[in-house]
Amino acid sequence: MLENRRILLIVAGGIAAVKVPDLIRRLRERGAHVRCILTNGGAQFVTPLTLAALSGDKCYQDLFDLKDESEMGHIRLSREADIILVAPATADIMAKMVAGMADDLATTALLATDKPVMIAPSMNVMMWTHPATQSNLQILKTREVKVVGPSAGDLACGEVGNGRMAEVPEIIAALTRFFQKNDGRGPLTGYKALVTSGPTLEPIDPVRYIANRSSGKQGHAVATALAELGASVTLVSGPTHEADPDGVAVIHVETARQMMKACSEALPAAIVVCAAAVADWSVEGAGQKLKKGDKTPALKFTENPDILATLSQPGPGRPGLVVGFAAETENLIENAKLKRAKKNCDWVVANDVSTGSGAFGGDSNTVHLVTADGVESWPTLRKRAVAERLAERIAAYVQRHL
Ligand code: C5P
Repeated sequence: MLENRRILLIVAGGIAAVKVPDLIRRLRERGAHVRCILTNGGAQFVTPLTLAALSGDKCYQDLFDLKDESEMGHIRLSREADIILVAPATADIMAKMVAGMADDLATTALLATDKPVMIAPSMNVMMWTHPATQSNLQILKTREVKVVGPSAGDLACGEVGNGRMAEVPEIIAALTRFFQKNDGRGPLTGYKALVTSGPTLEPIDPVRYIANRSSGKQGHAVATALAELGASVTLVSGPTHEADPDGVAVIHVETARQMMKACSEALPAAIVVCAAAVADWSVEGAGQKLKKGDKTPALKFTENPDILATLSQPGPGRPGLVVGFAAETENLIENAKLKRAKKNCDWVVANDVSTGSGAFGGDSNTVHLVTADGVESWPTLRKRAVAERLAERIAAYVQRHL
């Protein structure tokens, strides 16, 4: 997939620049052409000679280099690529990209390009979580900049947290997915997928509701990962703080019944992933605002439709692969197996949501994939990585069975 792809690699000034030589090697092994721009900061960590030797091309550094400008020109440099990859992307270069600054060759190329851009952020955890960087990240995403990583772990500054640049295989996988999708050649191209995500809200009366702690992070990540493999994805989501994923049709709902209706309308689909935390009951007679009085009101519940079980029902229109999630606080795998049988779905992704597991609202998840063939326990991964693995597994299944 990377054969003959032209990658303009911008190396900014972060310690993760030391991973760049390996990145270039791996890209070239896969047949990609790599041309580098090295910022002044980047040159503190890796030399232009190293980058030139490994890329087999000149390493560009200076915006005002007369010879380079006459031979190549920064505009041509930015356009003669299939993608621009910024790795590592520092907080500084992200801020400059947002502001549209062009005070060196790297930022000028980024501003002058008409090509897709991918960034691999790398910085100290406080810099990453700073509202300025997070807001810059959101702006870049709205401009269709692809983002790979960062991940959590030990940082070079001695602190621990989110901010480590994605590892080389992760960057290569992200580039591969990008080109596959761009070429309409993803393994799921031509398949429709339906994903549910987030909580549902069940009104008690016109001003109050019952909700749950689902953040929608895992479900949204699954929708993104399936779309990246080329699927045409509809995401039916309860209220969350997550942005609508790129390239996904999103239907926003509040209650379980609305979610059921939206899902039924989104069918047929080859693949269904139910990651929403759907309320089991709705409150009866939620018409008027309950008044405070002598008597404490008693709520009466009615059972909500089980979306997963409904969509899994055998019949002519049944999706080829239906995946449910099982959030459990005890007997995780046993309960997930029972759920799989009871709801008639094909796979269950079981995750531990007991206090302290960090699954609810957190960025990581420890899951077990329960299928007809048995149970596979995955290591603790970021929700995005869980989603990518699941999407890869779905693609493999679809290719074999659908
Ligand atoms: O029964 P439980 O809620 O634990 O099952 C979880 C799985 O069932 C999840 O995949 C969830 O999305 C799905 N579900 C559903 N509709 C419901 C309840 C759960 O789709 N009413």
